[in-house]
Amino acid sequence: MYVSIILAAGEGTRMKSSVPKVLHKVCGEEMIKYVIKASKEANIDKNVLVLGHGKEKIMDAVTSCNVEIAEQPIGDSFPYGTGFAVKQAMKFVENEDTVIILSGDVPLIKGKTLENFIEFHKKGQYSVTILTSDVVNPTGYGRIVRNKKEIIKSIVEHKDASDEEREIKEINSGIYCFDGRKLKETINKLNTNNSQNEYYITDAVKILNDEGFSVGGYKIQDNFEINGINNRVQLAEANNNMKKRINEIHMLNGVTLIDPDSVYIEDSVTIGRDTVIYPGAIIEKSTIIGEDCVIGPNTRIINSTINNGTSIESSKVIDSVIGDNSNIGPFAYLRPGSKIGNNVKIGDFVEVKNSSIGNNSKASHLSYIGDAEVGQNVNIGCGVVFVNYDGKKKHKTIVKDKAFIGSNANLIAPVIIHEGGYVTSGSTITDDVEKEDLAIARARQVNKKGRGKNRF
Ligand code: UD1
Ligand code: CA
Repeated sequence: MYVSIILAAGEGTRMKSSVPKVLHKVCGEEMIKYVIKASKEANIDKNVLVLGHGKEKIMDAVTSCNVEIAEQPIGDSFPYGTGFAVKQAMKFVENEDTVIILSGDVPLIKGKTLENFIEFHKKGQYSVTILTSDVVNPTGYGRIVRNKKEIIKSIVEHKDASDEEREIKEINSGIYCFDGRKLKETINKLNTNNSQNEYYITDAVKILNDEGFSVGGYKIQDNFEINGINNRVQLAEANNNMKKRINEIHMLNGVTLIDPDSVYIEDSVTIGRDTVIYPGAIIEKSTIIGEDCVIGPNTRIINSTINNGTSIESSKVIDSVIGDNSNIGPFAYLRPGSKIGNNVKIGDFVEVKNSSIGNNSKASHLSYIGDAEVGQNVNIGCGVVFVNYDGKKKHKTIVKDKAFIGSNANLIAPVIIHEGGYVTSGSTITDDVEKEDLAIARARQVNKKGRGKNRF
């Protein structure tokens, strides 16, 4: 059986955060979830998380991930380190198992890479195999020490390394594949004789090599995959690399990103073919965008569904649904619960909240539409306000099909404008307007002779 042990009990001090390190997000998803996903993609049957610092918060975040939990005791009376962490998971490991050790803070690793890595380990019949890479700046990573025959002898941590060892560019990714029996035997032989007084899992490599067992090294090229995150600078780098990866997937699927560097799309987002995305777009939280859409510059879409052929420019859309061939913005704000139909126009400086707008309706400029049900073929003039709040409660407005609401009208909810009802501009409507009636609710104009003169 294949078992993964995912280390996530550390304090993550270098993040300087009250959020556990592995819950910091990379392209909208907690980093540990990427690690779990990669492990499952590599067909690893049993996934064990080692948790300590921030245990409850992490458990909450992974409830739907179907993983086992091993606890690492935390406190002054307990030792610390990756070796001690691995030891806590030993009850989940049988001698016959193959154990893949992963770090919760190395989120860019791909399932396919793990699969190849495990295959390499199996073929070579190594007692342990280390996933390594040559990097330009190895500072902070453990270095891979090889002998003249290129055999791996040990891993030396940056803090324990001599000047000569620090010159080594080949680093330890923190990802290992162990023969289950060898791991179980070796884990009890670790000690804390190092600069950090910690149990290092990396010492298992030297122990096995000294005992005459074979140690494998699997070197990969794309070292972005094994970037560890210890601080916020590395978090930003990982975000950037993940962003590139996600954007490339969309482009290869037929989405045009005019300037991919400036577009941020979270991992959970789906986008249809021939949709064009302009610079500065931010698309988050399971948003689904259809085909042939245009997502204009500086648009932020969160947890929403946008159907085919719709254009959105310089707008914010949150928890909302937009139909086919509609036009949103520039500078529209669709707040939670907005359901926009097909062929609808929501123009500049229009805010919609918890309202449905039927097909072919238009609110072209400067309106607030809150808690409303607007039918089809309705025209909402410039500056119309749906007055939904009386200071205590929210009330609903219903505007039925083909109604016309003149500019600068106030609809004081609760109120109904029936089918084809016509509200003249500047009216303040407090009573229902019946089918096809015309409502005027404003004071009559009075002109006073000559009173425009000598005003000052
Ligand atoms: C570790 C490796 C280093 C490697 C690097 C790759 C050791 C001793 N060093 O260093 O060789 O180059 O990863 O990124 O293993 N953790 C626990 N319990 C603990 C301590 C840590 O679960 O008591 C977890 C952390 O939450 C983290 C992972 O183990 O997810 C790695 O720990 P970290 O302190 O980040 O190790 P590095 O210093 O990065
Ligand atoms: Ca680390």
